[in-house]
Amino acid sequence: MTELVRPQPVPPTGLAGSAPADHLVFPNGFLFGAATAAYQIEGAAGADGRLPSIWDTFSHTPGRVKEGHTGDVACDHYHRYRDDVKLMADLGLKSYRFSVAWPRVQPGGTGPANQAGLDFYRRLVDELLDHGIEPWVTLYHWDLPQALEDAGGWVVRDTAARFAEYAELTHAALGDRVRYWTTLNEPWCSAFLGYGSGGHAPGREDGGNAIRAAHHLMLGHGLAVRAMRATHPEHDLGVTLNLYPVSPQRGATTEADLDAVRRIDGLANRIFLDPILRGEYPADVLDDLRGVTDFGHVADGDMEIISTPLSLLGVNYYNRYVVAGADPADGAPAEAYRKPSCWPGSEWVRFGAAGRPVTDMGWEIDASGLLEILQRMRREYTDLPIYVTENGSAFVDERSPDGGYDDLDRLAYFDAHLRACHQAIASGVPLRGYFAWSLLDNFEWAWGYTKRFGMVHVDYDTQLRTPKSSAKWYADVIRRNGLAA
Ligand code: NOJ
Repeated sequence: MTELVRPQPVPPTGLAGSAPADHLVFPNGFLFGAATAAYQIEGAAGADGRLPSIWDTFSHTPGRVKEGHTGDVACDHYHRYRDDVKLMADLGLKSYRFSVAWPRVQPGGTGPANQAGLDFYRRLVDELLDHGIEPWVTLYHWDLPQALEDAGGWVVRDTAARFAEYAELTHAALGDRVRYWTTLNEPWCSAFLGYGSGGHAPGREDGGNAIRAAHHLMLGHGLAVRAMRATHPEHDLGVTLNLYPVSPQRGATTEADLDAVRRIDGLANRIFLDPILRGEYPADVLDDLRGVTDFGHVADGDMEIISTPLSLLGVNYYNRYVVAGADPADGAPAEAYRKPSCWPGSEWVRFGAAGRPVTDMGWEIDASGLLEILQRMRREYTDLPIYVTENGSAFVDERSPDGGYDDLDRLAYFDAHLRACHQAIASGVPLRGYFAWSLLDNFEWAWGYTKRFGMVHVDYDTQLRTPKSSAKWYADVIRRNGLAA
């Protein structure tokens, strides 16, 4: 049984000895930034040789994305990147985390680089550097070239090799100017939503395929890190995982509840953390999945590649999972426990809630979960520098009388989570940066444009950008390198 993570006591004051008592100061050089992803903001789906990715195909398939929305135009960032970088500079961002679109760089998923596609990222990086903003590249934020999906996608081993090749090409083109590189963004989503529940592209539904996809994603990650490390050993290389504290719903926990916690922690967190940071799959997860796959897809040497040493860990945090377990014999109807196959092997787990306020995604707001997960990483997994590579919230933004957007709920969300970051640092977690999700309202995957996560409002008819109150507040936090106590 994995130990449940409890918050640790932390000193109540700021970090810097000289800081005013009413000010929570972050360490010098703390990387305050904002994040986006290619398919969610770029648009220009057919420009300069780009070919479809699985998200183009998926979003153009009726019924897959809310209201039939697609990323064809999105925030038109591909054409407006100069203005967007100016906006970032106005906010005082120290760093900008964006993803490179594989279907721009290698439109068919193999072969030589498409220079026109790479040129866009060269221009973007130069623009960022000109404004003193540290570029942070994510190599894979879910947009697999459709040609590779047609050849089997992440379910097949070859895709890992293709990814490493693409990573090498991109790194060769931008490595002289970009120091921070993360391979995959949230591989859990690529594997378990893409191939398990089918709620994300490519929309396939098979638990065994999800497990195979997870392995090949990690293999691609390890191969890519090796390739990049070989040419630039000084670079900061890592991966971004979406991590969740998992808590039992009922106060007086039963064995079934604790088993539910263990299973979901295994399938959400440890199935990636253990291979990448410890070089092995957790034994209990292998056990849970025995009926789903025999792990025959794991070849000799894979675990060494997957656990290639990193220089940082990226953590995306949004919410906590609250679960209950039940014995099929306890009288509850089977339907109450049947899970979409993004949780293979956990058919008797039910997802609940702790009764906290929720965001527009229905996700409970719980900043203590961020502190817990950061402390757990330090305690159980790694002493690598950690970055919160995403954290944010969707809310319905009402226009205020002055024409702005007074998004106090989003502002409060950021504030609470930054306090958790500060506490984490004070308790000894080597947290080096925080990226707000997201700079702009954007294409929220299967939700299309119906959910807004941006600090900057986007009018999709006119492409007008309007910084919301949270953006102005964040600019102030960055300027002061801290929060009011
Ligand atoms: C994590 C993903 O990386 C990002 O693309 C998404 O928009 C946010 N979560 C919000 O759901």
